[in-house]
Amino acid sequence: MQSDTPGAKKYFNRVPKQWDALYSHENPLKYLINKWLRKGLYWRYQLVFEQCGTIPEAKVLDIGCGTGRYSIEFAKRGAGRIVGIDFAPSMVDFSREIARQMEVADKCEFICGDFMTHQFEEPFDIILAVGVFDYVKDPGPMFKKIAQLKPRKFLASFPKFTLVWGTQRAIRYYWIKKCPIYNYTEEKLTNLYREAGFSDFQIISYEKGFFGIATTK
Ligand SMILES: C[S@@+](CC[C@H](N)C(=O)[O-])C[C@H]1O[C@@H](n2cnc3c(N)ncnc32)[C@H](O)[C@@H]1O
Repeated sequence: MQSDTPGAKKYFNRVPKQWDALYSHENPLKYLINKWLRKGLYWRYQLVFEQCGTIPEAKVLDIGCGTGRYSIEFAKRGAGRIVGIDFAPSMVDFSREIARQMEVADKCEFICGDFMTHQFEEPFDIILAVGVFDYVKDPGPMFKKIAQLKPRKFLASFPKFTLVWGTQRAIRYYWIKKCPIYNYTEEKLTNLYREAGFSDFQIISYEKGFFGIATTK
């Protein structure tokens, strides 16, 4: 079942450099402004690595890897193999190039494809879906596919609707970028985790969203 998200694919295919500016220090002023305006994005980045602790040799799947910044950091921290998948070809090209520059290309495989249709032939210890569920119209099947891959840890972020941020984001993405976004509530997330078969999970609420940490034995 393919994701029903042509708007997201087209939009993200146009903006790899813009997206990567959130992580790269190439333009220090831009980086500082982003850091101030998008605190949640940096908080969730830190949280992922705090949650994963030491990860020697772990196998990591990074769904919607974007420009590969999480994948590359996992490689630098000692993960054994990282697979990043993104359906925007320019994002995948960008990830490959940064991994090469950071000298971790041998540990990283970047696949251009839709997570929902790609067949994975190997198990993963850690699965990430950061900044991805924002663009998923029907998240149930994605949750179930992730659960079937039986990760020891599944980490994901979800946006929540707030009057000021939610409204301006909806206008920006839906009307200007032609890329619809979908919001979540704690109740909706609890049902999604349970229905996918996750029994051990924690949902952390923060200013603009939620962060979910699910563990399996
Ligand atoms: C906001 S970016 C986040 C990138 C990265 N995870 C990060 O946090 O820096 C979301 C990415 O998810 C990708 N994406 C969304 N749905 C996807 C799907 N079903 N399969 C593969 N990639 C997807 C988009 O192309 C985009 O590059």
